[in-house]
Amino acid sequence: MNPPAIEVSHLVKRYNGLTAVDDLSFDVQPGELFGFLGPNGAGKTTTIHILCTLLAPSSGSASVAGFDCLNQPRQVRQSLGIIFQDPSLDERLTAWENLEFHGMIYHMPKLLRRERMEAVLDLVDLGERRHSIVRTYSGGMKRRLEVARGLMHQPRVLFLDEPTIGLDPQTRRRIWDLFKQLRAQLGMTLFLTTHSMEEASQCGRVAIIDRGELLALDSPQALVAAHRAENLEKVFLTLTGHGLRDEEVSGPERMRDQVRRLKRWR
Ligand SMILES: Nc1ncnc2c1ncn2[C@@H]1O[C@H](COP(=O)(O)OP(=O)(O)OP(=O)(O)O)[C@@H](O)[C@H]1O
Ligand SMILES: [Mg+2]
Repeated sequence: MNPPAIEVSHLVKRYNGLTAVDDLSFDVQPGELFGFLGPNGAGKTTTIHILCTLLAPSSGSASVAGFDCLNQPRQVRQSLGIIFQDPSLDERLTAWENLEFHGMIYHMPKLLRRERMEAVLDLVDLGERRHSIVRTYSGGMKRRLEVARGLMHQPRVLFLDEPTIGLDPQTRRRIWDLFKQLRAQLGMTLFLTTHSMEEASQCGRVAIIDRGELLALDSPQALVAAHRAENLEKVFLTLTGHGLRDEEVSGPERMRDQVRRLKRWR
């Protein structure tokens, strides 16, 4: 039997006094479209960064595609693709150059690299703009290029941290069609965060976390039924409350959050 695509066991991440991830445990099966939901500051990005080997946990363990995130980071990185929450393209380069650079980092041989670059650019419909400098792209085009880059090495597990943020309904729909195609054709596992409950409702299962803790995990339909709620948004608000997260953040933590938010506005 195949190992779970993602395994998280008693995962904890502390930043000085703050526990961002608090004893989190869950599994994601191969081929799942898994939604990872939670209010601002819930610990979603921190968890994704641990799974992608960019951060070390304070305790607990995690694996991706059967490889241990702490002890087998190289194999883990080979198995996954990531679309970061914050933009991470080199805006001074063209789309083609951004993809080429990514392929080189992954040690993809030239022929394979070129073949995949053509394929992923076609997939996100950016073939004709491949030689334009990314700075001249619209926000939606940049996001599509980031998705294309995440697919270059055909990862078994794709992490998408708010992939559709700031996109118009047409582009959102296009990206969601692409997700469904990737699952159907390649059996890819998709792990995504979103604040859109409409998008979350399209996931096979969703986890709802807050303050680093897992509050619920099931299919959107089962969660709605179990809470006798109208929709997933009502379930989310029942579990996580109506208060704004920043109200409870104080002093240096608030400063750090402000800086992070400002950076996002760049
Ligand atoms: N490098 C860091 N140093 C200190 N605290 C951090 C750091 N990164 C994140 N945090 C804190 O950890 C908590 C979880 O942050 P995280 O970015 O994982 O949340 P999130 O669920 O992705 O939120 P959002 O929906 O706003 O993206 C927050 O309180 C945040 O301020
Ligand atoms: Mg985040």
